[in-house]
Parts: sequence; C-alpha cells; structure tokens
Amino acid sequence: MNNKAIGIFDSGVGGLSCVKELLHILPGEDIKYLGDTLRMPYGIKTIEELHRCACDNVDFLQRRGVKLIAAACGTVSSNVPKENMANLTVPFVDVIRPTVTAALAATRSKRIGIIATPATIKANSMGRRLEEMDSDIKVIGVPCPDFVPLIESGHLDDDIIRKSAQSYLAEIKAFGADTLILGCTHYPLISKVIREILGDDVALIDSGREAATGIKTALESLGLLNEKTSGGKTEFFVTNNTEAFDAVAGIFLGENANIKSVLKDIKE
Ligand code: DGL
Repeated sequence: MNNKAIGIFDSGVGGLSCVKELLHILPGEDIKYLGDTLRMPYGIKTIEELHRCACDNVDFLQRRGVKLIAAACGTVSSNVPKENMANLTVPFVDVIRPTVTAALAATRSKRIGIIATPATIKANSMGRRLEEMDSDIKVIGVPCPDFVPLIESGHLDDDIIRKSAQSYLAEIKAFGADTLILGCTHYPLISKVIREILGDDVALIDSGREAATGIKTALESLGLLNEKTSGGKTEFFVTNNTEAFDAVAGIFLGENANIKSVLKDIKE
C-alpha cells in the first residue's frame, strides 16, 4: 500500500482521457495532473525538445512526491523512452504497450489505423510494436496536426472539428481498418465526432483510457495501491491559461467535476 498521489502529465487537456478512466477504476487514488499548456502542442516538436519537456514534467511531479508517473501523452511515449529520462526516480507508465495490446485484442481483420500527432506517426513506435507482436498486422498511420490546437480551444463537437476529422479519416476509411487507435490522448475528447464519421463497426482504442489500465496494473503489481477505495482527490496544474484548460476539462469530465487548475511555472 502507498497513499501518495499518482502523477500524470500531458501537454494539455489530452491526459484527461486517462484521468477520466482512473476516476472510474481507481476512485480512491489521489492524482496530481500536469498540463504543460505553455509548451503545447508537443506533436510538432523535435525529439530533443520533447526530451526536455518530459524531464521537466517528471521533475515537477517528483517534487510533489508522487509514487508513480504516467506520460498520458502519445507523443512523449513514442519519442522519449523512460531509459532516456535520467532524472526518473519512481515507476513510470506510458501509453504504448497498453494501447497496442488493446488494439490487437480488438481487431478481427488485422487492419489497424493509427491517428496521432506528426511526431508520434513519425516515430512509429506503436506501428512497430503492433507488427512485432503479430506479423500479419497491416497498419496505416495518419498524422492529424490540426486536432490538438482545435481541441485545446474547445472545438469538441462542431462543424470545424467535423470537417477536419472528415478529411483525416478518409484515408482510414479507404484502408478499411476495423480498429482505430486514437494514438494521441487528446483525440478521445472528440470520439463522438470520429464515431459519427466511421460508424459503429470500427473499434476505437482510447490511448488515455488504456494508459489508466496500465497504471492500475503497475500499481497492483508493485503493491502501491492506495488504502482508500473512494474519495481520491485530484489536483490540476497547468503552465499557462487556466481558464481555457478549466473550460475544456469541465466539458469533458462534466460540470460537476468543477475543475479549478492552478497556474505554475514548470521549474517551481
Ligand atoms: N496529448 C498528447 C499526445 O498524446 C500531446 C499532443 C500535443 O500536444 O500535440 O500526443
């Protein structure tokens, strides 16, 4: 047992797809969430820049005494392996393994689509892992650079996001994928729109949600679960623009969640 908080980071609201599931499956856990909104979007950064962001985020959460850190971010997970974060002193979970495992379990046709940020598609960590785990798998990866800025500014269910999604998803449809990995944790925030375009026959794999499953498995196997089974507290820290974060978080987690994020410098 360990009653310290779980640390979760992303560039912004994307990691809330992980938090949403965690609140459901581990309601007794305390969570410290960091949205690095000042440096968002991550998906167009270089590996060096992503490495700096990941190490800063890890330091920020470790200074707050967390027991485990999750990169609820496909871009960091794909580009910065934990072995490269020399400052890491607690167990670490990323989105890759739980996400590809869920996709393999879901596919019947063995044709899997991945939509994610340009940096995630370029790194191809998920595609490579899928093909290693099953050599019959056929993968298509489509970068969707407009999604994160649109989602961060609150376009979760309107004509602007719908038009953008229609153009990105045309390739996935043409490829005939029966399973689509939402390889950026922001994309589950627009899963209703994606579902409308692809229909019910395509399984959507939510990388944020799968990261939460990965966190639960890790805490169980390390004996680090919280004693409490309900009443966990969640704190939100952002590096820029608390209002924008709180507004989108409120829509996604529900108004009752009453999100009031706290503005912090990443070095604080
Ligand atoms: N939500 C993140 C991801 O999963 C970061 C996206 C971004 O900031 O571009 O890739």
